[in-house]
Amino acid sequence: MLRTSSVKTVNLGLIGLGTVGSGVVKVLQKNSASIEKRTGIRLVLKRVAVRSLSKKRAVRVSRKLLTRHPEDILGDPSIDVVIELIGGIHPAREIIETALRNGKQVVTANKALLAEQGEPIFGLADRCRKKLGFEASVCGGIPIIKALKEGLASNQISHVLGIVNGTCNYILTGMSQEGISFGAALKAAQTQGYAEQNPHLDVDGIDSAHKLAILARLGFRSRVPFRKIHVEGIRSLSIIDIEYAKDLGYGVKLLAIGKDTSHGMELRVHPTMLPLDHPLSSVKGVYNAVFVHADQAGDLLFYGKGAGMFPTASAVLSDIVDIAKRIAGQADLKSPRPVKLADKKVLPIAEIVSKYYLRFQVEDKPGVLGTLARTLGKHHISILSVHQKESHDPRSVPVIILTYEAREKNILKALRTIHRDGVVQEKTVMVRVEQ
Ligand SMILES: NC(=O)c1ccc[n+]([C@@H]2O[C@H](COP(=O)([O-])OP(=O)(O)OC[C@H]3O[C@@H](n4cnc5c(N)ncnc54)[C@H](OP(=O)(O)O)[C@@H]3O)[C@@H](O)[C@H]2O)c1
Repeated sequence: MLRTSSVKTVNLGLIGLGTVGSGVVKVLQKNSASIEKRTGIRLVLKRVAVRSLSKKRAVRVSRKLLTRHPEDILGDPSIDVVIELIGGIHPAREIIETALRNGKQVVTANKALLAEQGEPIFGLADRCRKKLGFEASVCGGIPIIKALKEGLASNQISHVLGIVNGTCNYILTGMSQEGISFGAALKAAQTQGYAEQNPHLDVDGIDSAHKLAILARLGFRSRVPFRKIHVEGIRSLSIIDIEYAKDLGYGVKLLAIGKDTSHGMELRVHPTMLPLDHPLSSVKGVYNAVFVHADQAGDLLFYGKGAGMFPTASAVLSDIVDIAKRIAGQADLKSPRPVKLADKKVLPIAEIVSKYYLRFQVEDKPGVLGTLARTLGKHHISILSVHQKESHDPRSVPVIILTYEAREKNILKALRTIHRDGVVQEKTVMVRVEQ
């Protein structure tokens, strides 16, 4: 047992008491005694800023701690660590920047802010020689940030493939296992509390792109211009293609894909077919996973709950304890020399090379398959396999073609030619395939 005199107090100011903020307070209430026993550090919640003082909360917090003014925390010299959990760009950015300028260490879960406007904030933290913890910004309870920053520090990382949005994974799991449409699966996710009433950021892939930007920055040690990430969501996926993919031995996932190649970085978020025996295919429901290929450590898979009150609070607390140990002198508080980041080129989506699943809706008549194969061949696309599905309507029969690796711009040119020549009756479905 540590003697009381050896206990160091670290004062916390929390801004935001919603899902994650309430989780942080609950974890502090439950576990701060055991944290103190293990580390000799007493974490004291000094102030909590919210928008509404009268709102019913998921956690009991003394009324005396609450304020409507974040400045009460930012300007309080006794507060060591500011925890920003309000989300969004403004005023979160101003809050974090003021905290850093006022000499506070900062912890945030704000992936949107770090992905879209992270560089000036990281730069300010470096100049102020302050820590900016952001473990909770990607994949909630999975300690992926620490793994990339520290555990894999000696590696060159070439691939980061992630199922980083639990809402989409829940919807796609429902479509695949229950054979229901996107709309029905989304409704189920909303009823279960796994999707917002406005699910735009999740189902349109933006949230996954935010996380990819943060992972790629750390993994590939390069600045990542967020607007250069290619983003497609899952709204237009049909149950037909999910069923056909299954017949062919593939599952469909919304993947955040980062690859560091000799030509530049591939950064893309889109529905992706994966072989059913790929480690990411077994990730179901709201779970997240990140697959990393590192040159020394090899293939790694990180798996866990990517969101929710307690998994995310766990990540926030990991940063708080880490920083508190430094404040207590158990580790060096000064930031090491800022990591020098490169400005690697981001490859346009047209330049990526991938395998493809193509579903053509064609008339069931002689010569159609030959025309499709010839046009693909003319555009340097080799066919891996062809599958014709049964249809009650001979005027519209699905033909599935899996290709070998091809350049995306060639695929797009071939599809344009096929449409122009009137070979197909509807827009061809194209899904990229990863091995
Ligand atoms: N929810 C998750 O599972 C999860 C997972 C990973 C990361 N994150 C990230 O964590 C952050 C917080 O998410 P959340 O889900 O906890 O959000 P939330 O439930 O909407 O809570 C936001 C909180 O911020 C407070 N707030 C908003 N604007 C404020 C202002 N100007 N001044 C003071 N307080 C303000 C709100 O106060 P009132 O309560 O008074 O309205 C509320 O308590 C976001 O960056 C999010 O992306 C969330």
